[in-house]
Amino acid sequence: MFFFHLPEIVSDFKIVYYLGAFQTEYFMFQNEFKKIVESRRSNRSFDPNIEVSHETIERGLKNAVLAPNSSNMQLWEFQWIASRQMLEALTPLCLNQSAAKTAKHMVVFITRKDKWRLRAQWNHDKIQESLQGRPGKLQNSALKYYKTLIPIVYFNDPFGITSLLRKSVSMALGLRKPFYRLGGKAEQRIVVHKSCALAAQNFMLSIAAEGLHSCPMEGFDKKRVKKLLNLPRGAEINMIISVGKGTEKGIWGPRFRVPFDEVVLKK
Ligand SMILES: Cc1cc2nc3c(=O)[nH]c(=O)nc-3n(C[C@H](O)[C@H](O)[C@H](O)COP(=O)(O)O)c2cc1C
Repeated sequence: MFFFHLPEIVSDFKIVYYLGAFQTEYFMFQNEFKKIVESRRSNRSFDPNIEVSHETIERGLKNAVLAPNSSNMQLWEFQWIASRQMLEALTPLCLNQSAAKTAKHMVVFITRKDKWRLRAQWNHDKIQESLQGRPGKLQNSALKYYKTLIPIVYFNDPFGITSLLRKSVSMALGLRKPFYRLGGKAEQRIVVHKSCALAAQNFMLSIAAEGLHSCPMEGFDKKRVKKLLNLPRGAEINMIISVGKGTEKGIWGPRFRVPFDEVVLKK
């Protein structure tokens, strides 16, 4: 009798085995992830004698670009400050913060809302390149999304008429049912900054995963940094991240977080 049931038993075993394997993997990744998240601290004083390899920064930036981002528009740019001369030029613009003064590398995370046309076209081309034969329903709507919807979201005129129109239309259409609230320049800036900050976090976690340290900074003179990096008007600096081998002195105190239940509200 046992032999008759063998195929079922084997297949059940396979499922259990696979589930077990997935489960083991899940815990393995979670433990590693927890270590990385917990070891990342903002360190404001880096060891002057320990260099950070260019490969570490490159890996960090390759992880940064994998961050989720609005409509895959990737309206970001990362200026990697690696030379001593540029580090010295950037440090006073970061108000001489010790995290900047002692950094071995800095990366300026920049939003590039001004590149929306290029990126929409790029996404459109990528979808078209990936087509095998005629586009299906999903591909057609993706193509339309980048050709029609993205311009509706990102286009601006000098008088703000488009923004007003966008806001009024979404307000009218949202009266009776949920509708995506289109906005003006402020909303567009929020969208690109959100995505850029996610890339910055991927970068910092990648640095932490290599046993190194970082400090995100918003304490800088944005006007002067833009000038130093020759950035166009449409570019904005999201944050600057300094990197090095952190020291004990660079940790300014224990890590405080407000109680979990105060910020996590389960409904
Ligand atoms: C957007 C942003 C800007 C920050 N700017 C600065 C800064 O200019 N200088 C600084 O020393 N720390 C800066 N920090 C670091 C925070 O002070 C730090 O993340 C916070 O105190 C929590 O500590 P932890 O990162 O060690 O967990 C910044 C953090 C973020 C996310």
